[in-house]
Amino acid sequence: MAPPKQKYLQLLLLFLLLSLSSLFLFSLSPSNPTPQIQLHQIHSPKTNPNFTFIIKVLTFNRLSSLSRCLHSLSKAHYDSDDKIHLHVFIDHFSQDSQNGSADLDQKLDLSKQILGFVDGFDWKFGEKLVHYRTSNAGLQAQWLEAWWPSSDHEFAFVVEDDLEVSPLYYRFLKGLILNYYYNASNFNPSIYGASLQRPRFVPGKHGNKMQLNGEARIFLYQLVGTWGQLLFPRPWKEFRLWYDTHKAKGMKPFLEGMVTTGWYKKMGEKIWTPWFIKFIQSRGYFNIYTNFPNERALSVSHRDAGVNYGKTAGPDSYLLDEDSMSSNSLELYPLNDLKWYDFCFREVFTDRIVKSLNELGPVLQFVQKKNSVLLVSLYRMRKTVIMNMLCHFERLNIRNYILIGRTSDFLLDLSRRGHPVVDASQFSDFGKSINFQDLTVELMKEILVKGYVIKKSLELGYNTWLVDGNTVPLSSDSFLDSFDRTNDFYIGKDIRLLYVRSSSSALKIWGDDFVYNVASLVDTLIKDSVSRGGILFSAVEKLLEKQNEKFKGVDETGLGLDVGSVRANQMSLKIENKLVFWSSQTKFDTIQRQLANSNLWVVDSDSSCTAVVCHPS
Ligand SMILES: *[C@@H]1O[C@H](CO)[C@@H](O)[C@H](O)[C@H]1NC(C)=O
Ligand SMILES: *[C@@H]1O[C@H](CO)[C@@H](O)[C@H](O)[C@H]1NC(C)=O
Ligand SMILES: *[C@@H]1O[C@H](CO)[C@@H](O)[C@H](O)[C@H]1NC(C)=O
Repeated sequence: MAPPKQKYLQLLLLFLLLSLSSLFLFSLSPSNPTPQIQLHQIHSPKTNPNFTFIIKVLTFNRLSSLSRCLHSLSKAHYDSDDKIHLHVFIDHFSQDSQNGSADLDQKLDLSKQILGFVDGFDWKFGEKLVHYRTSNAGLQAQWLEAWWPSSDHEFAFVVEDDLEVSPLYYRFLKGLILNYYYNASNFNPSIYGASLQRPRFVPGKHGNKMQLNGEARIFLYQLVGTWGQLLFPRPWKEFRLWYDTHKAKGMKPFLEGMVTTGWYKKMGEKIWTPWFIKFIQSRGYFNIYTNFPNERALSVSHRDAGVNYGKTAGPDSYLLDEDSMSSNSLELYPLNDLKWYDFCFREVFTDRIVKSLNELGPVLQFVQKKNSVLLVSLYRMRKTVIMNMLCHFERLNIRNYILIGRTSDFLLDLSRRGHPVVDASQFSDFGKSINFQDLTVELMKEILVKGYVIKKSLELGYNTWLVDGNTVPLSSDSFLDSFDRTNDFYIGKDIRLLYVRSSSSALKIWGDDFVYNVASLVDTLIKDSVSRGGILFSAVEKLLEKQNEKFKGVDETGLGLDVGSVRANQMSLKIENKLVFWSSQTKFDTIQRQLANSNLWVVDSDSSCTAVVCHPS
């Protein structure tokens, strides 16, 4: 092991070298579009992944609807080598009706007619299977029980009987499967399928209007579209298991702020979408959608009278045929070029992972608000507590933050869900000579990365906050320029908060030497039994004192910032304040209980937000 001083130097040199030479991996502007793949080219793919495509038709008592639906499916273009199976699920009428036998005989007769029609229906493209139920299952069970994927290479296309599909629908779905499932460079595990219906609905209350005019395009949107939904096998299995667990434990798919929750309260277990929507929200998954001009779509619903509609409402869109397609060629752009939208139809910027200082600038510029930036440290924090904090950010529309932590599944998951992250582990490769189990080295690295991120932010002219994830904001302006202008530095050692005002004097102090000196104090402060989370704050204070620089402590009085400071096990939250903090010694149970008592615990048992809050952009 090298002597300490040498170790620090080695660390610093490697750190600087690597952060300067790192490539610019992250960019907010889309990469150059690759040549377009058009629908007419899709039938001759270079590779054949040998997948199975099963059409799941859900029907009940609408013979003419079913007939129109099946005929449109059989008139579509399929490729000769492909296996396309047709599974028809015929629900039974319910037997609780007190009606006379005339009605009953009519119902029995209709069932016979439907069975006769399906039996006689010729399906040339694969197997035909008919599932005739013995009692009324309803839409929820019809959907959920329609499929248990037999492999990762089986896809289900679920079609309710009042749908009609375009002859081009299969070519398009096959293109999607080849391009976004089997092409590794466009695969993303967050994508659960594709809806062929015309996108029109935003379930988040007060969400954005869909602005989709212009040319035909593909985009990603969290909402399920039940009029022609392709399901990918893995997310569907995951959903079935999640549903089982939640249903069995008596949980409800409530998601505040969503129109669909109102539907659930009215319709209960008659419908399945509130469950699926709650699952999608907890996982942060997305669906592929198409937008064609002039209200056209590859699948339309005739909205015939039935379970969903008391009266026939008529087609929701116009069906795309070959002629309209040629003038509306749809490009299957690389995944990186597609836009992603949440339940509020607000754009989500996924996979922003900063791996070097060079990549940091554009992200800070993007997130900053009124020239203020918040760095949230994920080190030593519980996942649920961080998720709770992020739900408050969503609620208050706080978006000027970036999360910082070491490489972990959690960090990657946060970036997948659209939170900007700094992956501190990637910032440098310390070489084989350093033992990563050595806590001192790990801590030094953490502090160096935080120090350099702050430096970069100050250089860009941003007031910079650093908090330790042990906070809940109470106001949408919590992380702006909240301090008076008499000082450049505000330090809360206990609450683990640092605020550096953007000024030429602060920038002069916070240079390479300063960052290096802060990191060098790790050993000393550990010996003084300063907690690991507190070291950075103590070290900054020590150095500023030594250099006779002015700063203010914010632990005791708040000094211009209203801080609901919480020590040990006595959390006393003051709601009129801007921020709530608690000490690193506070036990998780206490944090959770106290926050819950003040209505500030806003995550469910899946650690996902209990509400969707839309802020029109
Ligand atoms: C395709 O998969 C089926 C089973 O799903 C298998 O029997 C068949 O041999 C496979 N064909 C090729 C060309 O791999
Ligand atoms: C009973 O039958 C009549 C006429 O066939 C129908 O209008 C009514 O909706 C039925 N009632 C129930 C409860 O099914
Ligand atoms: C996979 O996708 C990339 C990016 O869109 C594309 O450049 C490449 O040609 C695709 N590969 C195949 C085999 O289609």
